[in-house]
Amino acid sequence: MAVALLVAAGSGERLGASRPKAFVVLAGRPMLEWSLAALRAAGIDDVVVALPPGERAPEGCLGVAGGVTRSASVRAALAAAPAARDGAVVVHDAARPLVEPELFARTIEALAEADAAIAAARVTDTIKLAGPDRRVTATLDRSTLWAIQTPQAFRRAVLEAALDVGDEVLAAATDDAWLVERAGGTVRVVESSPANLKVTTPHDLQIAELLLRDRC
Ligand code: CTP
Ligand code: MG
Repeated sequence: MAVALLVAAGSGERLGASRPKAFVVLAGRPMLEWSLAALRAAGIDDVVVALPPGERAPEGCLGVAGGVTRSASVRAALAAAPAARDGAVVVHDAARPLVEPELFARTIEALAEADAAIAAARVTDTIKLAGPDRRVTATLDRSTLWAIQTPQAFRRAVLEAALDVGDEVLAAATDDAWLVERAGGTVRVVESSPANLKVTTPHDLQIAELLLRDRC
């Protein structure tokens, strides 16, 4: 079975709560507990949590201090992770508490044909490019666009090599799969649903609360 890295070290600036985002209570539990329950339901026992200052890892998880950027937190968690029997590592944002257990299994399975396999939802809005003057310069072909989420599964050696870069490269990465792409690795999307939303703003938190209330 794979090992999981649950990244929870962000401060949650855009949410603006009084404690770090992953520890804000959501439908009766700290937010990261929802992802942890989904990981457990997927049969993943080894979980390393990247933590913000002053917070403790949930029971049964190994906690490590997070880094300055998201990818630095992933790197810190990976360094502490035990070896997995199948050599797979799955990275998940604590900010996506609605993740379904089966999505972990599907991303890990898709590693059979790629170095990295990442959850993604088809884009439903029409996406246009516009310059600083707001003049539209292009309308993109929506059928080829994917909105990237977590979980993201990797072969461990590939992720270790991809993360072995300078801090300025790490800081530029909004996801780990990009680091694999720039190192020449193959990355596949695994179709997910927009319901696996990321809690970023107070509005997202309200939606997540409504959706998770039914699961209590
Ligand atoms: N994260 C992390 N370490 C960081 C930054 C982010 O572990 N240095 C984690 C967050 O805890 C979150 C995930 O990466 O689970 C996605 O990041 P994001 O949604 O941007 O969360 P925050 O960085 O906490 O929020 P904000 O950008 O609004 O401050
Ligand atoms: Mg952030």
